[in-house]
Parts: sequence; structure tokens; C-alpha cells
Amino acid sequence: MSSEGAKGREPASYQALLDENRALKDEIQSLRVRLGNAEELKRAIREGDLDALVIHRPEGELIFTLDSADRAYRALVETMNEGTATLACDGTILYCNRHFAELLRMPPQAIVSTSIYRFIAPENMITFKALLKHEMGNREVNLLTEEGESMPVYMSISSLQVEGSPNAWCLVITDITECKRAEKTLKLKLEELARSNAELEQFAYVSSHDLQEPLRMISSYLQLLQRRYQGKLDDKADKYIYFAVDGASRMQNLINDLLEFSRVATRAREPEPTDCESVLNQVLSNLDLYIKENKAAISHDPLPEIIADNTQLTQIFQNLIVNGIKFHSEEAPKIHVSADKKEGEWVFSVKDNGTGIDPQYSEKIFEVFKRLHNKEDYPGTGIGLSICKKIVERHGGHIWVESELGKGSTFYFTLPINSGEASKANF
Ligand SMILES: Nc1ncnc2c1ncn2[C@@H]1O[C@H](COP(=O)(O)OP(=O)(O)O)[C@@H](O)[C@H]1O
Ligand SMILES: [Mg+2]
Repeated sequence: MSSEGAKGREPASYQALLDENRALKDEIQSLRVRLGNAEELKRAIREGDLDALVIHRPEGELIFTLDSADRAYRALVETMNEGTATLACDGTILYCNRHFAELLRMPPQAIVSTSIYRFIAPENMITFKALLKHEMGNREVNLLTEEGESMPVYMSISSLQVEGSPNAWCLVITDITECKRAEKTLKLKLEELARSNAELEQFAYVSSHDLQEPLRMISSYLQLLQRRYQGKLDDKADKYIYFAVDGASRMQNLINDLLEFSRVATRAREPEPTDCESVLNQVLSNLDLYIKENKAAISHDPLPEIIADNTQLTQIFQNLIVNGIKFHSEEAPKIHVSADKKEGEWVFSVKDNGTGIDPQYSEKIFEVFKRLHNKEDYPGTGIGLSICKKIVERHGGHIWVESELGKGSTFYFTLPINSGEASKANF
């Protein structure tokens, strides 16, 4: 710069000084003009005459105007998959993006400068006004299209308060028509499922209950035949009568079990505080003889108090412990019961040292009448685990087994700690 030159050396002549002085004046004038321009730019930004983004940095201000970064921002708003609009404080739409206009099935120019209120369904007007009043928030509301068709959207509103200018809002809407349709279908399907389940339960109850009477009759007359004519007819007759009596008694067991299965729903009691240790003690006392006969050792960790149907919890423990004893290996049965608290639920476990279960059947065994062992070696109908599953699920938990053939099995079931709340819906 010439000013530096002036300081750095002796002026050669008066003429040279004059020239230098003129040059300095020109330079000052040009700096004044640039300063004036900068001041004008700042005023325009401050008063909103110009869209700009000002970033304050230690090295100085960085200004992005419409000509630079703002273009990218506008392109983003225009191409985003949500509808967005800005509103003046009286609800006049100042701007809307392409998607907003498409959702309302109108051209943007027909929307801008009209009132947002014409697009809000009357039943949602109070909600919408409340959203504006709180200047922030989101809700599901119905919008009205040009043809008067109602369209569900998820709307979020935020205040665009710029210092010195009147209040305005930014509105973002997401079309949730598909979501609502799916929700409705799901609700219908769930209702249908609940109805069909209730019918099935009713059917199982009525049929098993009503079948009991004629079956009792068949069974008692067959036993009478057996008592009167055993050994008096030929060998074949004895064999036939034996098969008939055996078949009738197995059928009676199946029907009783089916009835018990359907009673999980029909005879459920209100969940109440239940001490699991007393439940287990009750089970051990019910099974006292069976435990002694099989030389079974049963141990347990401290068990919690939970909210549950006391009788049904007894059924779960009883079924699992009987299985643990029944399906024993060469060794005397050893069973251990424990409970662990994990993320909002209790995980109970009943571990045995029995025959174990091939993992490929670990889900099948919870189905009604599914058995992996034959009735000659291990008596039973195959209903116990399905009853456990039904009870656990009614309490809001789930049940599974971890096992390997020959290595014993551990049955786990969860019950929510706040099981009262979860189960009320099901009881
Ligand atoms: N602790 C266990 N050890 C090995 N197998 C088991 C055990 N518990 C259940 N099972 C298998 O699962 C089947 C179904 O059990 P369950 O529904 O209680 O019926 P059931 O006891 O009448 O046979 C049993 O027949 C058996 O094959
Ligand atoms: Mg069983």
C-alpha cells in the first residue's frame, strides 16, 4: 500500500508528496464506499430485506446469502418428503413446499396467502388452536383437501420467532393414511382373533364338559362287563373288553385335561399379591408321596412375592416339577427352582437332571397333547406344558426350555414385576 511507502522512506520531491497524498485520498474514498456497502448489507440482513445466515467466528463474520448456502437449504425443503409451511400469526400461509401442496391436492400458488384454518377438519380445530397457542408440539389431526376429503396427518408445529418481527409458525406434516389403515386392519384382526379364541374356548369347555357324562356311562358299563364276564367268555372277548376299558379311561383323561386347559381362561381369578415360596411349599406338600416314591430332591433359592393368580401359579410349578421327576434319567431326580429379577420382569427357572429334550422339539412340547415320550414308559396326556404356556401368557410373560438330550432340562418362565397391570387386560 502507498501509506506504507510514505512511512518507509524520505519523499523525493514536493510533486511526489502531492501524488502520494492524492493516492491516499483516493484510497480513503474507496474504503468509505466499501464501508457504506457493508453497513447497507448489515441493515438489510437485520431488517429482513435479505435472507442470510450470519456465522460469528473469531476470524470475523461469515455471511451466507440467498446466492450461496441458502439455495441448498431451499432445495432441501422443497424436495423433502414431509409437507412444510410457514404461517403468519393470523394463520395465513406464507409459504408451502411442493409436498404440502401435493398432499392437499392443490397448486402451491392457490394455497399461499390463504388461511390454514380452511384446511383443518372441524373436529380437530380445538386441538390445532391449542397447538398454535403452545407454540410447539405435535399431534395427529385430519386435514381437508380441496375436494373436502379428510386426510390424517401427523402435524408438528414450532414457533418462528425472529427478533423484531411478528410471530410466525413453521408447520411440518406427515401423511399417516397408510399407517391409520394398517392400524384399523390390525384392530379388526385382533378383535376377530379375540372373538374366535373366545368361541374356541367356549367350544372346548362345552364339548369336554358335555362329553364327560356319556363317557362316564360307557366307562362304567364297560367296567361292569369286565367284572361280570372276565374269564367266562373266550380269550378274545377278554382282550376286547380290556382294550375298550383302557380306551375309555384314556379318553376320560384327555377330556379332563382339555377341560382343565379351557378352565385356564374360564376359571381365572383376579391377580393378587402371591408369595411364590408358599406356592412352592403348597406344591411340595401336594406332591409329597410322589417325591418320596421317586427319591426326588427338590431345592430352591429365595422366591419373590408377585401379583398373580395363586391357583394358576400353583399349576405352573406343579406341572414343571412333576415333569422334572417323571422324565428322570438313571440318576435320582434333582430339581432346583430359582428366580432372577431382570428388566421389569421375574425370570423363574425349574432345572432338572432328567432325560433332556432334543432342541428341535423345544417349541412343539408346548402344544396341546404333544408328547415326546410314549405312554407305556411315561404316563401323561401332553397337556401340562400347554396349560403352563397359557397361564404364563395370560399373566403377560412367556415360557421356554433350554435343554439337550441326556443333559437335563431347564424350563424358564417370565412374569412381569408389575404383573397386576399386564394381566388385568387378560383376566
Ligand atoms: N422335564 C422334562 N424332561 C424331559 N422331557 C420333558 C420334560 N417336560 C416335558 N417333557 C416332554 O414334553 C412333553 C409334554 O409335556 P407335558 O405337556 O407336561 O405332557 P405330559 O407330562 O402329560 O407328557 C412330555 O411328554 C415330554 O416328552
Ligand atoms: Mg406333564
